[in-house]
Amino acid sequence: MKLKLIGIACLLSVAAGYAQQGNYEKEINALLSKMTLEEKIGQMNQLSYFETSDQLLTQIKKGEIGSLLNIIDPVEVNKVQKAALENSRLGIPLIIGRDVIHGLKTVFPIPLGQAASFDPQVVEAGARVAATESRELGINWTFAPMLDISRDGRWGRIAESLGEDPYLAGQLGAAMVKGFQGNDLSSPTSIAACVKHFIGYGAAEGGRDYNSTNIPPHLLHNVYLVPFKKAIDAGAATLMTSFNDNDGIPASGNDYLLKDVLRKEWKFDGFVVSDWASMAEMIPHGYAKDGKDVARISANAGLDMEMVSGTYPKYLKELVQSGQVSIADIDNSVRNILRVKFRLGLFKNPYVDTSKASTIYSQSHLEEARKAAVESAILLKNEGSLLPLKANLKVAVIGPLADAPHDQMGTWVFDGDKAHTVTPLKALQTEFKNISYVYEPALSYSRDKSTANFEKAKQAAASADVAIVFLGEESILSGEAHSLSNINLIGVQSDLLREVKSAGKPVVLVVMAGRPLTIERDLPYADAVLFNFHPGTMGGPAIFDLIYGKANPSGKLPATFVREVGQIPMYYNHNNTGRPAPDGNVMTLDQIPVEAGQTSLGNTSFYLDSGKNPLFPFGYGLSYSKFEYSGLALSSNSIPMGGMLTARVSIKNTSSVDGVEVAQLYIRDLVGSIARPVKELKGFQRVALKAGESKTIEFTLTTDDLAFFGRDMQRKAEAGDFKLWIGTSSAEGLETEFSIK
Ligand code: BGC
Repeated sequence: MKLKLIGIACLLSVAAGYAQQGNYEKEINALLSKMTLEEKIGQMNQLSYFETSDQLLTQIKKGEIGSLLNIIDPVEVNKVQKAALENSRLGIPLIIGRDVIHGLKTVFPIPLGQAASFDPQVVEAGARVAATESRELGINWTFAPMLDISRDGRWGRIAESLGEDPYLAGQLGAAMVKGFQGNDLSSPTSIAACVKHFIGYGAAEGGRDYNSTNIPPHLLHNVYLVPFKKAIDAGAATLMTSFNDNDGIPASGNDYLLKDVLRKEWKFDGFVVSDWASMAEMIPHGYAKDGKDVARISANAGLDMEMVSGTYPKYLKELVQSGQVSIADIDNSVRNILRVKFRLGLFKNPYVDTSKASTIYSQSHLEEARKAAVESAILLKNEGSLLPLKANLKVAVIGPLADAPHDQMGTWVFDGDKAHTVTPLKALQTEFKNISYVYEPALSYSRDKSTANFEKAKQAAASADVAIVFLGEESILSGEAHSLSNINLIGVQSDLLREVKSAGKPVVLVVMAGRPLTIERDLPYADAVLFNFHPGTMGGPAIFDLIYGKANPSGKLPATFVREVGQIPMYYNHNNTGRPAPDGNVMTLDQIPVEAGQTSLGNTSFYLDSGKNPLFPFGYGLSYSKFEYSGLALSSNSIPMGGMLTARVSIKNTSSVDGVEVAQLYIRDLVGSIARPVKELKGFQRVALKAGESKTIEFTLTTDDLAFFGRDMQRKAEAGDFKLWIGTSSAEGLETEFSIK
């Protein structure tokens, strides 16, 4: 009897879990059985909203549209939704999409900046704010998070990525999904996430957007697919294919990835949307002959919804009738789409409640955005502990990014209003009123080449105790289709920095940019450098929180900073060559004797003009505190396959300032059935330490955490020896060893 009761209790709890994930198969099948082929194809069609025309309403009523993107007026959303629900034959709601990438109105740091926080909680909170504001306007689906691994600062969309590391991107991507979707997708503050771009888009050759990628299978599975799998396991409702062809196959026509990997292996049951016209672009790719061919290829590949290019509505019917696309594939796609619509609660609560009080730009949203901006800033240099500054110093505020309310928000901001941006200058005028300052922008925008005001900037610096120079990039210089072949500070900004430095006062360089920049040439002219990836609405006060020590920097680089653009791609988790350059310094150009013998420099892997190391490694970032690591110990130096180990380390804040250290755990699998990276991040923790405090922290690692796709393309850990480090960046750390027996 007791057993029976336990059994029933188990069944009930499984059923409850199932309901939460949203098991709507009965409803879906019932609806599907009533749908005509045209209505099914209609669900697979997404259009971009322009206006609520009669033509649009007629199409919706006829069931020809499954989704609209870019409609952001709640009154209009209610109109189109009414047409779908009350005036179409089957009353299927529309799903309303929008690129809400790092906030809707309240803009958070660009995703690359959020990644620098190494803080899943802050990322989740940002997505929650974005979801709440979006749902208010009737948006119930965002095209985020972008999980493209990017190892190339030239690529404009690195801004939108979570950096170069698959583990970090996976952890933070999952947090973002959780933030957007909440615990219950049907809640009035949740929106569906869309992981994108599947797959390899960030590996565009030469960093030029949309370019081909050539990612071989092991790399694809061990790096590029990793964060996607993690975000899908976290429940991401939808996925977007990418623009690029990888090894000749455009992503929107890749049946292996969409069917075998995504559906069969990963058991993804949400829906797949194409990128904007990425299906039709298979024609210029040379992969499809015409629109009909496009529709055939994508439908057969398992692509459920077409974004804007209209080949499904035009050709799918005849393709099904002629047997070139199976009705089973169509039914599967429609099921996937309906499943997400049911889970979003759109059948029950389709309308926006326009009478509800707005939370847009609410105090709590602004505070979350400020916290995120604080945690996203990376202190790269702090000579003589120049920072934090004392409030009684007179400062000269210089540079084009000191008061650039539009640019500070960064790329992919459609809805944020620059009138709400608090720039550094505005922060000084409002909140930091006790600071005495002079302001001289010197350049009116980052590309401005006029040096006419340089002398004034120098005078301003001379008249102050410290100069704070705000340089960087306008938002238009990063993002989609905005790649650069030169990633120095653009225009004459480096010259301005030098001019300011020549006034003889200490200089704080504050950068706001959409990508890692090559700033080696600028470092000698700045005593302190605080790097911000475009920090969003609350960037100004966040930066002054850090500059005046109300907060302590804790951000770490989510992507390697190279010395020269020609070093790209340079990333920490690379494979070793057979001839790695020796530790310590390598010979540089000016040290090479004239008429040096051919082999006199040794034959190892480095650049004669820029060496073997980056400017700043992945995971690097300073604090006003000083942290000391000691006592790294493992629970065991040998674990069985399937076992687990615990790594322990003590961290002491040896300074007199409270701070937060992001402790990072890396491993190296020394010998594998395929060569393994020299380091791989496997864990991180933000550790808050009061002045003088020490803490012992613990990481656990299972052998599954060490698994990879080896020679046989099966994901598993391999027995053998490993190195393990815990430390402050990918380039430093205490080291130990263990093995899997
Ligand atoms: C971008 C996507 C975006 C879509 C819809 C495309 O150009 O690549 O990331 O979601 O447009 O705006």
